[in-house]
Amino acid sequence: MEKESFHFNRLILLLIVVASRSLALTRPHCHEDEKSALLEFKAAFFTKDEKPPCCSGATSDEPAKIESWNASTGESKSDCCSWAGVQCDKVSGHVIDLNVSCSCLSGKINSTTSIFRLLHLRSLNLAFNYFNCEIPPAIENLGSLRDLNFSNSGFMGHIPHSLGHLTRLIHLDLSNNRLIDTTLNGLTLLLTTTSACAPRNIDPEVPDPCQDPHWKSNLRLHVNKSGGEIPSSFGRLNHPKRLDRHFNSITGEVPSFLGNLVQLKSLSLAGNMLIGRIPSSIGNLVRLTDLDLGYNQLVGEIPLSFQNLLELRFLALRSNQLSGKIPSSLGKLIQLTNVDLSFNQFHGAIPSTIFQLQDLQRLNLNSNNLSGTVKLDWFSEVESLQVLGLSSNKLSLIVETTISNEYYALGLGSCNLNGFPEFLQYQTHLFFLDLSYNNISGQVPEWFLTVSPEYLRHLNLSGNFLTSFAQDPIVFKWEELVVADLRFNELQGSVPIPPSNMWYYFISNNRLSGEISPLICNLSSIQMIDLSYNNLTGFLPQCFNNLSSTLEVMSLQSNNFIGEIPNLNGNSCALIMIDLSCNKLHGPLPRSLRNCDNLEFLNFGNNQIMDVFPSWLGSLRSLKVLILRYNKFHGHIGEAADGVDFLALQIIDLSQNIFSGSLPSGYFEHWTAMKVSETNSSSYIGDAIKRAWIFSSDATFHYSMRVIAKGIQMNYSKIQEYLTLIDLSSNNFSGAIPEAIGSLKQLKLLNLSNNILVGPLPPFMAKLMNLEALDLSQNQLSGEIPQELTQLTSLAVFNVSYNRLIGPIPKSQQFDTFENNSYKGNLGLCGTPLSRKCGDPKALPPSSSTSEEDQDSGSAMELEWKFVCMGYAIGLVNGVVLGNILITRRRAQRLVKNFGRRKQMRRR
Ligand SMILES: *[C@@H]1O[C@H](CO)[C@@H](O)[C@H](O)[C@H]1NC(C)=O
Ligand SMILES: *[C@@H]1O[C@H](CO)[C@@H](O)[C@H](O)[C@H]1NC(C)=O
Ligand SMILES: *[C@@H]1O[C@H](CO)[C@@H](O)[C@H](O)[C@H]1NC(C)=O
Ligand SMILES: *[C@@H]1O[C@H](CO)[C@@H](O)[C@H](O)[C@H]1NC(C)=O
Ligand SMILES: *[C@@H]1O[C@H](CO)[C@@H](O)[C@H](O)[C@H]1NC(C)=O
Ligand SMILES: *[C@@H]1O[C@H](CO)[C@@H](O)[C@H](O)[C@H]1NC(C)=O
Ligand SMILES: *[C@@H]1O[C@H](CO)[C@@H](O)[C@H](O)[C@H]1NC(C)=O
Ligand SMILES: *[C@@H]1O[C@H](CO)[C@@H](O)[C@H](O)[C@H]1NC(C)=O
Repeated sequence: MEKESFHFNRLILLLIVVASRSLALTRPHCHEDEKSALLEFKAAFFTKDEKPPCCSGATSDEPAKIESWNASTGESKSDCCSWAGVQCDKVSGHVIDLNVSCSCLSGKINSTTSIFRLLHLRSLNLAFNYFNCEIPPAIENLGSLRDLNFSNSGFMGHIPHSLGHLTRLIHLDLSNNRLIDTTLNGLTLLLTTTSACAPRNIDPEVPDPCQDPHWKSNLRLHVNKSGGEIPSSFGRLNHPKRLDRHFNSITGEVPSFLGNLVQLKSLSLAGNMLIGRIPSSIGNLVRLTDLDLGYNQLVGEIPLSFQNLLELRFLALRSNQLSGKIPSSLGKLIQLTNVDLSFNQFHGAIPSTIFQLQDLQRLNLNSNNLSGTVKLDWFSEVESLQVLGLSSNKLSLIVETTISNEYYALGLGSCNLNGFPEFLQYQTHLFFLDLSYNNISGQVPEWFLTVSPEYLRHLNLSGNFLTSFAQDPIVFKWEELVVADLRFNELQGSVPIPPSNMWYYFISNNRLSGEISPLICNLSSIQMIDLSYNNLTGFLPQCFNNLSSTLEVMSLQSNNFIGEIPNLNGNSCALIMIDLSCNKLHGPLPRSLRNCDNLEFLNFGNNQIMDVFPSWLGSLRSLKVLILRYNKFHGHIGEAADGVDFLALQIIDLSQNIFSGSLPSGYFEHWTAMKVSETNSSSYIGDAIKRAWIFSSDATFHYSMRVIAKGIQMNYSKIQEYLTLIDLSSNNFSGAIPEAIGSLKQLKLLNLSNNILVGPLPPFMAKLMNLEALDLSQNQLSGEIPQELTQLTSLAVFNVSYNRLIGPIPKSQQFDTFENNSYKGNLGLCGTPLSRKCGDPKALPPSSSTSEEDQDSGSAMELEWKFVCMGYAIGLVNGVVLGNILITRRRAQRLVKNFGRRKQMRRR
């Protein structure tokens, strides 16, 4: 009996031991098939050495979480449920949550990819990786998904229909991809858009992936025109170049089947290239709290069915082309806290129902076409409102002094204000204030300089009629100010001293005078400085080289600076753009510029710089624009040395110097950017340094330039990526036109006028098929005009006047448009448009060159270059997007004529 009970007890004990063992193991291990699926996924896509731009917070040295996944033995390592980014169900052990965002994954996933075997997934986050392919239809295998996040993952093509089967989805984030058709006109568009990072935001509430230096350096990316794939080594493109967009051929629309996902609470498709209308089926998503369709190319009106989205808190439609009126039914969506309709084409009045949204915190209507008179008081009825953007509409704002709201951000640009609104004195938490393009005149009141002294970060007063500050010089007291825009006022006195944290300081187009205070060199974070179009004098401070490690844009043109150009780089050089043109600087070019590897744009034109051709700039592989016109550059340009390639150069203006010797044919051979075919791109040089703010208009620093050649005046307020130009006019170049010039097949504008070139006008010029303007006037070219030139079908301006040409003028449609002036001063030319008929040796030569005419042309030229310095450039206009203007005199005349004719017709 005892023995039995002993045995019985042992049995119990054993059972207890077994039971407790198994209790210890209740947390189930991961399933083998899922583990191998995960490892297969890692093996196929994890590329340790190729880091895509990561999400904010992740420093580039931090190992990706997926790196630690490992199949080797050892309890915890082999249990995939313990791996970083993986979560399993506590009971079943199935993987239900996979978060491998920002994990340096790259490569094409497809329907056979192993993650689509993780059938129990509820949450999948692949954000901030680079898959460079369409979203595979097998996404529908993951029928349990509630959260799907593919943001910033390089997806392109259509959103697969099967996504509409994921009816349990609650959060869907497909933002910042390229969800469009991928093959357009035989071109393959690749890589993500800059819009992923487009708003280089200073909103402290937005963490910002664009601040990641890695991302920044990759902003400009290649598009491979010949088809095929760009290497997935996103991080390795050292000289990213340009990013084309072909909006017209895009076919992707917001798929209306998304309206099936009726559980959805949040939907983000922002930052894609979606076109078409917003499908009204989105109105079925009645549980939506967050809807973000911003940064696409959507058109049409806000669908009426939006009035069903009663749970909606966050509505972002920014930066589309939406139109119509803002529906007054928005006032029914009483949960709304954040409405961003900015940068669209909404018109009409702001519906008064908006003021019923008592929880509204942020309302951004900036940059639409809204009209009518509004009272700031009405907005202030919404007590929670902290952020209000009304700039760049056609509104008239009435501000009474009773505003009690505490605003964080106020965009009141172009609101017809006649003075500084007084309630601003009592605002203490403003970090953003835009009063640009109003009618505010006179002295800036003293109280204004202490508005929100501890918080103000971004101030825009540009485009008013401000004349002065109460003190001179004024030192701004806003400690946190990082952006100040005071351009286009009438400010006199010396340059105000900004606080030392400043990033962007714009005070061009005023009447500032005196010297630049050396205090400016305390700006230890400065990235852009624009003092152009003032009346500043004196030497440039030597200490400018203190700024060189941060300064990207230095725009000092059209002042009266004298002396030598200081050494511009201390330890490193961040310059992308430097414009010192139209001053009185002399001495040689500072050789230290050679270290500015990112330099794209250099304009030292219209100074008194005495130097030889800076061949040493040729090693700068980003340099696109080199303008040295009207200086005292001299000597032979000679042959290009090794490594002096000027690889990216597309605009070179050396006109009005005293260069001599033959034309630089050795260089022509190297100027690759003028040879490679580029389709017309909608982007501009300098787009990469575009900065966008949340409420004001985008502050884009476009490079501006004026190119003057005899008979042609071109003002570029921004420069298209595809513009190519060589101006070597008004020097002492001699010898023949070299054959190498024929290789510059993408050249659009060529000016060799006013040199001492001899020899024939060679037939190989006909290879320059893209040429729009050719000026060879005032040389000593002889022989006939080759018939081959009639192949230049793009040619709009042609000038061979004042040479020694003979024979008949070629006949073709293009040549028939050129007038007398194109040919005059050549004693031997005949045929239309000249009065001298060919084969009629007795006829008089066309009106022969008289000394009077020569004087005329001389003084015209002088006038022209003066004009270059005096005119106001519009390089930096807030909110106004100006296309480039190319006006030939003839076209201008035609325009004027047509305009007159139209007027007459109207009168009749
Ligand atoms: C797994 O980890 C072990 C030791 O931690 C290491 O030796 C092995 O290389 C790792 N395997 C993989 C595939 O990373
Ligand atoms: C996913 O991982 C990222 C980066 O590791 C982290 O920032 C994010 O909060 C995670 N998301 C979720 C839902 O856990
Ligand atoms: C899917 O991708 C794998 C490599 O990741 C490849 O071997 C396979 O051929 C692809 N399948 C299809 C149908 O494209
Ligand atoms: C998607 O994931 C990224 C990175 O983890 C995160 O920043 C983003 O907020 C997520 N989207 C949503 C809607 O949660
Ligand atoms: C562009 O694609 C072609 C064809 O696939 C390829 O040969 C070439 O190397 C690619 N160029 C670049 C810069 O990737
Ligand atoms: C702006 O609205 C006015 C009417 O208020 C209209 O005439 C004009 O065409 C609109 N402009 C644009 C660019 O939509
Ligand atoms: C602008 O202000 C001036 C006075 O400072 C005033 O005379 C003028 O009428 C104002 N213009 C508009 C359009 O309000
Ligand atoms: C510019 O300053 C100079 C003196 O430095 C002065 O003579 C000249 O009148 C000023 N020009 C303008 C347009 O204010």
